[in-house]
Amino acid sequence: MEEKPNEVHYGLEGVYFTDSKISKVDGINGRLYYRGYAIEDIAKYSSFEETCYLLLYGRLPKKEELDSFSKAMAAERDLPDFIMDMISKLSGREKQMHILSAALSALSAFDPETEDQSPGANMRKSIRLISKLSSIVAAIGSAALGNGYTKPSKDLSHAENFLYMLAGKKPDAGKARMLDKMLMLHAEHSSNASTFACLVSASTLSDIYLSVVAGISALKGPLHGGADENALAMLHEIGNPGNTEEYIEQALAGKKKIMGFGHRVYKTYDPRARIIKESLMEIMNSSDEDVKNVTSIALRAEKLMIDKLGKTHGIWPNVDFFSGPVYEYLGIPSGLFTPLFAASRIPGWCAHIMEYWQNNKLLRPLENYTGEIGLKFVKIEDR
Ligand code: SDX
Repeated sequence: MEEKPNEVHYGLEGVYFTDSKISKVDGINGRLYYRGYAIEDIAKYSSFEETCYLLLYGRLPKKEELDSFSKAMAAERDLPDFIMDMISKLSGREKQMHILSAALSALSAFDPETEDQSPGANMRKSIRLISKLSSIVAAIGSAALGNGYTKPSKDLSHAENFLYMLAGKKPDAGKARMLDKMLMLHAEHSSNASTFACLVSASTLSDIYLSVVAGISALKGPLHGGADENALAMLHEIGNPGNTEEYIEQALAGKKKIMGFGHRVYKTYDPRARIIKESLMEIMNSSDEDVKNVTSIALRAEKLMIDKLGKTHGIWPNVDFFSGPVYEYLGIPSGLFTPLFAASRIPGWCAHIMEYWQNNKLLRPLENYTGEIGLKFVKIEDR
């Protein structure tokens, strides 16, 4: 009997592989919910610390719970000397995601609880990962900027401490709040490629550290977390707003992908991009002429892409498009954008790993084999 051809879902497009209560991405209506709360409310009323608590514990904390959680996070910001040595030795090679991955793997060999898979240990490691990843990224950026190493402060918020460690001076409240919002907006997004990579590793019962390293590897790619850096590079390449139309037309004619646009799930405006765009208005009122220029180009490119590919092809701005001008305004070097994306996404990764382990199933999909079988083996002397 003729075998029925296998039904192949390339890129696992449209395939549901598990249940989850962590976030809902509504791609048709352009809505995003963390544990049931709309992302607009999270960005407006919450903080990165409170968002981490919500994602990890599944509910909003009471004031005293948030205070002790924030203290526990701050207590974990310090880095061992050997991590600092590694960062300073590898700095200056423009391979920030590789340094991040190496530093995290080294940290996993150092943590006494790495192999302890108990829920308590996994929660403690999640808090450690959230704090230490941020310190590592700030230290990588600071070394790249030639600012030396600024030890973390336990008296600052998570976002304030990141900017303090990066620049060696305390940030102004407006910029700290802007970064806090960016961290919340990047904290979680259902089964995106890097979260899925974490779960493939976790499903073998590997440990949370090395499962996160798998996520960092996936996030690096320009089709995923690497898009923010490439989108900003495009804006700088366009150079001034008057060149925008011609540049975009030529790129599309050459079948180039415009970084920061399109999404596997959102077929309308990414709600996070809409919120980030609000920060651009603050930038346009600033005195930073360079960032104002790239912001004007971004706003022109947005309008053009929506007219050309939005309504007709469902290709709209995503979270990565406006992030570049905001990070540049915050003094964050572009090579640090994707590592910062990792430092933002870590609560989402940890929440998914711990949730998946509650009903673990090894992730092992099938391939549709299209090669030959039954070939006669010919010895090397007879070939
Ligand atoms: C993130 O999944 C998540 O949730 C990810 C994320 C998260 O928070 O974790 O939201 C973060 O990764 C956002 C996406 C960042 N990546 C980019 O901005 C890179 C540029 N975007 C594209 O590479 C693309 O849109 C993807 C990869 C994001 C999604 O692509 P799909 O769903 O696999 O669709 P596809 O690549 O097959 O594109 C379908 C068509 C193609 O045209 P045809 O070959 O059919 O003629 O749309 C075109 C594509 O060429 N297209 C684009 C485009 N994106 C898709 N054309 C021009 N510019 C683009 N940006």
